[in-house]
Amino acid sequence: MGKLYLGFLASRGGSNLQAIIDAIKEGKLDAVPCVVISNNSNAFALERARREGIPCYHISSKHYPDENELDEAILQTMLRHNVDTVVLAGYMKKVGNKLLQHFKNRVLNIHPALLPKYGGKGMYGEFVHKAVLEAGEKESGCTVHLVDEIYDHGRILGQSVVPVYPDDTVESLAARVLEQEHKLYPQILQKIASGEIVL
Ligand code: GAR
Repeated sequence: MGKLYLGFLASRGGSNLQAIIDAIKEGKLDAVPCVVISNNSNAFALERARREGIPCYHISSKHYPDENELDEAILQTMLRHNVDTVVLAGYMKKVGNKLLQHFKNRVLNIHPALLPKYGGKGMYGEFVHKAVLEAGEKESGCTVHLVDEIYDHGRILGQSVVPVYPDDTVESLAARVLEQEHKLYPQILQKIASGEIVL
């Protein structure tokens, strides 16, 4: 496949975004961070992009109440920045159909659990870890997968497993999983760049 031209969608702190940028800077990932888009003007992900000199935009339903227009605005911004692969990095909104169709099999997500378990609508961030703890699971982890029209449903590209301890809280489990996310996401992207994973 060769060098990846990445466009990010992020809603939160952007620690996965940062891990991917760092891997690029360290020469571990053959990619260019082209643009960062957030639906949340206060997302620290946008601040990280500014610090790294990556073009970034706040694009949300406040600007585009019509979801098709929002989808189109995100797509056009990705295209303007020559993106070839879309990376969801803590993006808490559903991705629009136009973006998905244009970037068919080229939209990736990271989910903080071992899909197909603990996925689907409403299963994001802390809600995932809460459900894992309530079910008494002995293991959890994270999953990088392709995005399709159904929440957390597309082809799984890679997973990392972590133990769940009896005294875990949502915070302690989230932190253990997040540490693995920061390793897994750049690794999977590099496997795509190198051709080891074919999308
Ligand atoms: C990560 O744990 C990511 O897996 C999760 O949100 C967090 C974002 O952290 N994503 C989802 O739950 C998506 N359904 P970050 O903003 O620090 O990368």
